Amino acid sequence: MHLHLVDNCSSHINMAKMEIQELTKTANSLVTNNKGILAMDESNSTCDKRFVALGIPQTEESRRAYREMIVTTPGLSDCINGAILFEETIRQTLTDGTPFIQAVIKAGIIPGIKVDGGAKAMAARTGEKITEGLDGLRERLNIYSKMGLRFAKWRAVISVGDGIPSPICIEANAHALARYAALCQEVGLVPIVEPEVLMVGNHTLERCFEVTEDVLNAVFLQLYKQDVLLEGIILKPNMILPGLTCLDQASVADVADATVKCLLRTVPAAVPGIAFLSGGQTSELASARLNAMNLRFRSQLPWELAFSFARAIQQPAMELWDGKEKNVKKAQNALYQ
Ligand code: 13P
Repeated sequence: MHLHLVDNCSSHINMAKMEIQELTKTANSLVTNNKGILAMDESNSTCDKRFVALGIPQTEESRRAYREMIVTTPGLSDCINGAILFEETIRQTLTDGTPFIQAVIKAGIIPGIKVDGGAKAMAARTGEKITEGLDGLRERLNIYSKMGLRFAKWRAVISVGDGIPSPICIEANAHALARYAALCQEVGLVPIVEPEVLMVGNHTLERCFEVTEDVLNAVFLQLYKQDVLLEGIILKPNMILPGLTCLDQASVADVADATVKCLLRTVPAAVPGIAFLSGGQTSELASARLNAMNLRFRSQLPWELAFSFARAIQQPAMELWDGKEKNVKKAQNALYQ
């Protein structure tokens, strides 16, 4: 149960009480009732990369048909509160002519959109990335809000390796995340704040903990400095995991414990919800780890713990769909599962 105490808030002088209430309500609606957020916002190149691996044609029509299969899955809103769409999708329609945003709303799901321009190589920092997309963002967000979208997503990517991440990479990404979040709230969109510490590498679980703790501290410092209303955001972090090629892999309980410990140290209680990315974990592992966190700690936590998976929800369904109309029902059953 999340408390609603924002009415007397003094630091958000530019925000009307109604706007604060609206943001808080949307943020809470995204993580309520043990449901999560479906990330179906792969950029064209990422989506095509997944299609190539399965031999599905990499066309605009394939991406449209694939997303139609997802949003028309019967009962999808039993499990999903929100869906993050990609720019291309919000301008497409279902076969029957219904625009995607309307189809999502009709399915009882809150529509959102990925607004970052992708993580690009950072100047003078080998192996590190900075997410771009702030130029013109205010104007784009205004258009999205008028189209009926209610929340947005921006992903920062932090790699772990020899001598990285550098403090300046963490700071630059945290700064950009907070600038994006403040712009979103200005037009009533709830920002999903996603600082992802990548699983790639042979680092230990302890190292992932250390880096994630640094990153989250930097992010919340910037959100504070830039006057972002914490009650009106969702945090989308990585779980605390050993690197993919680390020889010492952790148990489900160890991951659950370390993740909750790290979040308790860094995420203010005012944040309504934390929705994890899957980051390349299998659907089974990502779900088992999230489940373990809720089973072990739920009653002691100030925020909801939910999912905002892309690969861990979609991969089995994409494989069954295989680009073919005749496989839609089978794929939708898998997605629902
Ligand atoms: P994964 O769950 O596949 O990591 O994707 C989540 C996401 O939205 C990445 O930005």
